[in-house]
Amino acid sequence: MTDFDVKSDAFQQDPHATFRVLRDACPVHHSEKYGFFSVSRYEDVKAILRDTKMWSSKFGPGTDYSSPEAATALVNVDPPEHDFQLRLVNKAFTRKSIDALEPAIETFVADSIERLKPQGECDLMRDFAVHLPLFVISTMLGVDPKDSPMFRKWVEVLTLGTFQDADPKVHAETGQALAAYFMREIEKRQTLINEGKSLPDDLISRMLTTTEDGQQLDIGQVIGFISFLLIAGSGTTTMLICNTVHELLQRPHQLDLVRDDLSLVPVLIEESLRYRSPVHGLFRTNNEDVSLHGVEIPKDSKVMCLFGAANLDDREFSNPDTFDVTRDPAEARKHLGFGWGAHICTGAPLARMEARIALTALLTELPGFRLNGEPVLTEPSVLYGFDLLPVAWDV
Ligand code: HEM
Repeated sequence: MTDFDVKSDAFQQDPHATFRVLRDACPVHHSEKYGFFSVSRYEDVKAILRDTKMWSSKFGPGTDYSSPEAATALVNVDPPEHDFQLRLVNKAFTRKSIDALEPAIETFVADSIERLKPQGECDLMRDFAVHLPLFVISTMLGVDPKDSPMFRKWVEVLTLGTFQDADPKVHAETGQALAAYFMREIEKRQTLINEGKSLPDDLISRMLTTTEDGQQLDIGQVIGFISFLLIAGSGTTTMLICNTVHELLQRPHQLDLVRDDLSLVPVLIEESLRYRSPVHGLFRTNNEDVSLHGVEIPKDSKVMCLFGAANLDDREFSNPDTFDVTRDPAEARKHLGFGWGAHICTGAPLARMEARIALTALLTELPGFRLNGEPVLTEPSVLYGFDLLPVAWDV
């Protein structure tokens, strides 16, 4: 059986090589070490994500079996309850509310770059990319962006929980601290409601007041959704920005193409999501015994849908191992980097907007923008990104 350890340095250093072997030689892989299965071909991954009756999210998208009773956020819930929650969330998390964030994002990015510019160099990850999504989520929720450093610490601990690594005590305490913080924010708004006063126009207020068929999200669901937004929407967007910069700056010809024609930035982002998916893969659990490519997958197995491997499948994409900003946009957009089907990423339009504004500004405001030393990849896990990404420019 092919050796595949999602937690090994060898895999993280070169996921493409492992993905290729998996797709061609072992499209359904069983890990003796972790006990889960992995599926790597595009059509198989998409078929699993499409079939929520067979492939459940009730035990959560991570390696561990989260308790179905504890399910409070969209991502752990199956239809029809998922459809109901999604309709409610979509009423609060509208395209209009996302578009309304654009000026604040533009200003935040411009100010950050203005501040960094005289230095001539920085760590793009710590000095820039980590701050943007946390600022955006805080603004969207209607809490003080100055609390972002605290959110970042919480997110780091809670993200680890997706791969069995977090100290359970620290994980539980962090979850409680986050819940207590947002409970206070909810109570502030409930007081305003009780006093007949108008609420601030933010996501927390909308989630508290939006109804669907006369029903609302309960407080536990609102807090669950907020926690999930912080985890799902911050690190991943940071990774998207850094992964894109890293791939582009290694390819002078592609860099020139984008600099000369900034209308290529949206395709650049899709190509980056395809070629270097920030999320290697997430899990489903089968409601019945399944046989796939001759492998028996017993009921209630954890099965990893390898989005990253699917996105490089030559059964679906032409020259998949070539990073190409002139790829047909329709082909690039077929990637599964935001998942697929019922659970497809709610925040995708927001992540795309943040990346577009950030990348456009970096490419236009920093002359001679280039890599500046050895980057450091994140610890191997279900995610692909950088802990350190040194860049420089001319001053
Ligand atoms: C580049 C950035 C991002 C990537 C790569 C990403 C990736 C994903 C993936 C792969 C899923 C599917 C989960 C599954 O199938 O189990 C997902 C779901 C989700 N994401 Fe994102 N995400 C990103 C940014 C964001 C942002 C900015 C937000 C919001 C602020 C967000 C909110 C969500 C939510 C709420 C879901 C759950 C949808 C559901 O279960 O119905 N994501 N994301």
